[in-house]
Amino acid sequence: MSNFLFRYDTADWGTFGFMLLIAGALYYSESSGRFQLAYGKFRQGGKLSTRTAMLIIYTPALIVYILGYMANMGLNTVYTAYHILLLIAVAGHFLKRDLEVLFVHRYSRTMGWRTTLFIALLYFLVAFIAHSEHQIKTPRLLGESLSGPALYFGFTVYLISQALNFYHHLILRNLRKDPTDAGYRIPDRGLFRYVTCPHYLFEITAWAGIALMSRSLAMWGVFWIMAGYLAGRSRQTYKWYREHVPDYPENRRALIPGLL
Ligand SMILES: NC(=O)c1ccc[n+]([C@@H]2O[C@H](COP(=O)([O-])OP(=O)(O)OC[C@H]3O[C@@H](n4cnc5c(N)ncnc54)[C@H](OP(=O)(O)O)[C@@H]3O)[C@@H](O)[C@H]2O)c1
Repeated sequence: MSNFLFRYDTADWGTFGFMLLIAGALYYSESSGRFQLAYGKFRQGGKLSTRTAMLIIYTPALIVYILGYMANMGLNTVYTAYHILLLIAVAGHFLKRDLEVLFVHRYSRTMGWRTTLFIALLYFLVAFIAHSEHQIKTPRLLGESLSGPALYFGFTVYLISQALNFYHHLILRNLRKDPTDAGYRIPDRGLFRYVTCPHYLFEITAWAGIALMSRSLAMWGVFWIMAGYLAGRSRQTYKWYREHVPDYPENRRALIPGLL
């Protein structure tokens, strides 16, 4: 733990502090509904099919992380367990999202260009930070020393979280019996019985797994940004259900059973 904390300089801590501020701002903007990103239940339509928009959002992030890895292959610095498992985790996350967009989600409406490009830029930045932390700032020797129990523990947290995130996406898919169905129903399987956005909860724990594997302050910053954003959005989603879906259970929490 001490190694983890003391290998950072003032600039790293300053960047981390700035990321915490962004996380707080995102929590506020999403939970208050004041500057909400217009997608999901809060989109107002637009010129793009949501499937296309989501592919535009996730694919550049996937490409930048893989290209970053490939650029370092020639330098022979990315063949430790640390680099390889993080490649599987980060690229795997964006690839999973692309595949879910193509084959799992059943979308009801269209999306706008502006929101799509804005979110795509944010994910691009996340992938670039991950590339910089994992592949530039962690050369082979450091990668070898970070290939210990924390890496495997984080990877286990990541895998379980992604499986549970996927499971809850399947529950949402099965609420619509065919692809042309645009209705919203009350999900009542899995953790949906207790919270409005269990899929967000497991997205957050997947990023915690990546941060644990990374042993990087900046990746913990990314974790808090995702957590702040999704926690805020889950509260608005609960409110949205209460306003738009008759009989939505009032006692269901937003994100964490019994807590939030
Ligand atoms: N890291 C981040 O910051 C971040 C942010 C957001 C999302 N994500 C990831 O993306 C995943 C999906 O997020 P999302 O915000 O798009 O989720 P979402 O709004 O819950 O929608 C997921 C899919 O389920 C459908 N759906 C949702 N509620 C439904 C209901 N009550 N009845 C029938 N169908 C319903 C949606 O249809 P409609 O399109 O018609 O609403 C959409 O096709 C998350 O679980 C997470 O893994 C990550």
